[in-house]
Amino acid sequence: MSEPDFESKVAIVTGGGSGIGAACVQLLVERGAKVLVADVDPVAAEKVASQFLESARPFAVDVSDSQRCELMVQRAIDTWGGLHIAVNNAGIGGEQNPIGSYSVEGWRSVLSVNLDGVFYSMRAEIPAMIESGGGSIINMSSILGSVGFPAAGAYVSAKHGVVGLTRAAALDHAAQSIRVNAVGPGFIDTPLLSQLSPEMKAGLSRMHPRGQMGSSREVAELVAFLASDRAANITGSYYTVDGGYTAQ
Ligand SMILES: NC(=O)c1ccc[n+]([C@@H]2O[C@H](COP(=O)([O-])OP(=O)(O)OC[C@H]3O[C@@H](n4cnc5c(N)ncnc54)[C@H](O)[C@@H]3O)[C@@H](O)[C@H]2O)c1
Repeated sequence: MSEPDFESKVAIVTGGGSGIGAACVQLLVERGAKVLVADVDPVAAEKVASQFLESARPFAVDVSDSQRCELMVQRAIDTWGGLHIAVNNAGIGGEQNPIGSYSVEGWRSVLSVNLDGVFYSMRAEIPAMIESGGGSIINMSSILGSVGFPAAGAYVSAKHGVVGLTRAAALDHAAQSIRVNAVGPGFIDTPLLSQLSPEMKAGLSRMHPRGQMGSSREVAELVAFLASDRAANITGSYYTVDGGYTAQ
């Protein structure tokens, strides 16, 4: 039986309606947290939150809308009285094209969700966490926060940006008991990869020295550790969970 790390803690998970975010919601709830399941897809958010009765609530948010991010944080406070943990995980894959033919609209749409969204979320979350006596933020980057990948220039740029933004925020708020870290999963078989053929997925699996993609639960385990007081001395860091992908 795992220890209840998060008894009386309040958390927000953006993109909590699917994949890695839903696994984070589940693990945080299992360890005692109250969790706002924040997602642009209200049906998905409701479906995940409804599994946890008193411990989770859905919230409809497009993280590329800064005002909506502020309302998201306000909802967590109104529901449970504070905010201690935030997993800024909402993200999209976006257009796949080489940079020389990448559309401006495609670039804007990926950057607005995957990078602006993390900034808008943090700028709303941090004052609430200070008010709550401190907190831990985990921003979902990717292995593509430290290495490139063909035809994914906007995604790679946004995920590298998330690592820089994480370090900047950690320095700005360390003295206020706010820890900020980034997580870099290897490829995980979630709906994000739904447009890939089985052959492409098999090829991606082989690119990981472990020989397979990881699971959302394995990512959530790292997120939960970073969210917990066991990681009290960890801030401004970026951790991969990638079956050896970036060690090559
Ligand atoms: N799956 C992978 O291989 C992989 C690898 C590394 C990093 N990641 C990152 O992990 C995060 C989660 O990805 P996933 O694989 O679970 O994908 P997913 O598609 O299963 O889930 C993403 C969730 O985010 C929500 N979302 C999308 N745009 C949003 C917006 N503007 N505002 C709020 N919510 C929004 C979606 O509705 C969905 O529920 C993303 O940031 C992704 O870039 C995924």
